Amino acid sequence: MNYKIALIRGDGIGPEVVGEAVKVLDTVGKKFGHTFTYEDVLLGGCATDAVGKSYPDGTAEKCKACDAVLLGAVGGPKWGSDKPAEQRPETALLAIRKDLGLYANLRPASLRPAMADACPLKKETAEKGIDLMMVRELTGGIYFGQREKYQTEDRGMECADRMAYSEKEIERIGRRAFELARLRRKKVSSVDKANVLETSRLWRSVMHRLAEEYSDVAYEDVLVDNCAMQLVRDPSQFDVVVTENMFGDILSDEASMVTGSIGLLPSASIGDTAPGLYEPIHGSAPDIAGQDKANPIATILSVAMMFRYSFHLAAEADAVEAAVDAVLAEGWRTADIAEPGVTPIGTRQMGELICKKI
Ligand code: NAD
Ligand code: IPM
Ligand code: MN
Repeated sequence: MNYKIALIRGDGIGPEVVGEAVKVLDTVGKKFGHTFTYEDVLLGGCATDAVGKSYPDGTAEKCKACDAVLLGAVGGPKWGSDKPAEQRPETALLAIRKDLGLYANLRPASLRPAMADACPLKKETAEKGIDLMMVRELTGGIYFGQREKYQTEDRGMECADRMAYSEKEIERIGRRAFELARLRRKKVSSVDKANVLETSRLWRSVMHRLAEEYSDVAYEDVLVDNCAMQLVRDPSQFDVVVTENMFGDILSDEASMVTGSIGLLPSASIGDTAPGLYEPIHGSAPDIAGQDKANPIATILSVAMMFRYSFHLAAEADAVEAAVDAVLAEGWRTADIAEPGVTPIGTRQMGELICKKI
């Protein structure tokens, strides 16, 4: 088969990790008889530098003409919060997610067999295993609410960010979570702040309705502060964790570290229509950009998610994941996951080793 993939390399380490993921795509193509063709799409700080805005006209259309999108990362100090919105890379990331209708962000955090030594938790906690799927709502909530900034008479400047959720938005992400749980260990933990927020009380009532409908799936409510604590106390208790946009952003970074490093965690952003967008959960890591230090595994595992969720190529996805595990089992480590005394390898070498195993 022939698949067309939009590549948003982005900023910082983005181009480095996407470069290795493309090598993996080409290797899988050769081995399994597929052709992957690529279209480079400009988005982020690099787009601001090139054309004056981070989300150039026609970007969504270019992506829609492809079967899937692979994104590295965008952002960096050069295009910071002092810049106007249309020049900020993060604005573009939110816009592409919205324009492609990608309301479900699946972020699987699992402790890979060879990575037990990189888990910062107590040995007996790590031994219980970690295998959870964070289902983050991606196109609603405070990320997309009205923003206000105004001068008050007596309190200086004041700002507001509105957080809104509709029943419809909550139901569609909830269904995704319950459907996924049916294919896993059949447990959904819904994370909210219903003791404070109106949006969370609506969230909870919709989830309860779904829990009755999916009565074969175990269900629990967890307050977000407690969830943050439970993730480091005993992450083995979680199967599918469903939550709103900002809670999911924060909790998934936490979950990534519990499984070794943010450099390992992939994600799939999907909606009801193609294309899906696949991206590591990490950012552009300006502190290590351009030094061949970034871990490309999160992006490479995002390619495996693309195979599974967009192309329904299960054997190809398995091959990529097995190759990652095999390289890790041999002890190869990038700097973010290297134990003291272990000499780390670079981004490119990690990519090449994984390709060899495929
Ligand atoms: P970050 O994820 O870029 O980096 C946090 C820390 O993790 C840094 O020390 C970094 O070196 C390390 N790290 C991240 N990815 C790594 C990898 N693959 N290998 C090894 N180490 C890795 O978060 P930040 O520093 O808070 O944000 C930097 C910029 O990235 C900001 O502009 C932010 O808005 C943006 N960002 C973009 C995305 C995205 O494009 N999806 C996601 C998160 C942050
Ligand atoms: C992520 C990032 C983005 C988010 C930022 C860069 C807008 O942190 O993909 O996790 O908060 O969604
Ligand atoms: Mn994030």
